[in-house]
Amino acid sequence: MWSQKWVLGNWKMNGRTARNQDLLEGILPQAACGVQVGVAVPAVYLAAVAATAGQALWAGAQDVSRFEADGAFTGETSAAMLADAGARFVLVGHSERRQYFGEDNTVLAEKLHHSLAAGLVPVLCVGETLAERDVGEAEAVVARQLAVLKDWRAEGVAVAYEPVWAIGTGRVAEAAQIAAMHAFIYRQILSLCGEGAKIRVLYGGSVNAANAADILAIPQVDGALVGGASLQAEPFTAIIQAARTAAGALS
Ligand code: PGA
Repeated sequence: MWSQKWVLGNWKMNGRTARNQDLLEGILPQAACGVQVGVAVPAVYLAAVAATAGQALWAGAQDVSRFEADGAFTGETSAAMLADAGARFVLVGHSERRQYFGEDNTVLAEKLHHSLAAGLVPVLCVGETLAERDVGEAEAVVARQLAVLKDWRAEGVAVAYEPVWAIGTGRVAEAAQIAAMHAFIYRQILSLCGEGAKIRVLYGGSVNAANAADILAIPQVDGALVGGASLQAEPFTAIIQAARTAAGALS
């Protein structure tokens, strides 16, 4: 699993029971062999998606509570509950969580820790805004976000680099920008977590059927985190196919 390319969808706050089922039926035939496919779905649909997905793809969550133990935390869903409902992975620190819910490294460290303790693969999302990139701060911002992994003793580390200015905008970072930032993230993780850490660095931000092959062909890109294009079977399966082709070409 850690050596494969990953293609993870992020449905965000989209979906309805019947539509989810149709979408999964369109994806599942493409989901086996050589690529680790997953979909991060609204928590309310997690159990149904996991039941339909079986072993073929990972059902995942988009967020997890910062609280670990059961108790009086109205509205919260713990990592143990997500795992119990069939989640295999969870997005942690997506830029929309940082922006709308003020999530910072203190909260995210708790979320990472609880996810891992529950047997979930946390996918830490990092990325700079355009204003930060324009003033030459992109690496510094990402380094601060990655600092949450300090002394991480996880089995493996999965990070999604998603420049905020590329999310949902149709604007994709240039190949050289992606390669440089992914290489930087690798170096940071190795220095934070020690040599030998298993690492996956996914790219996210307006990945679609037309640009996936080019993005996934970048050697430092271990997969894609896909928002809008994961809401329909056709573009999402095209991205899975592009990952399979890229994995073949790189191996
Ligand atoms: P997008 O979203 O593919 O629609 O840009 C990516 C994400 O937010 O994970």
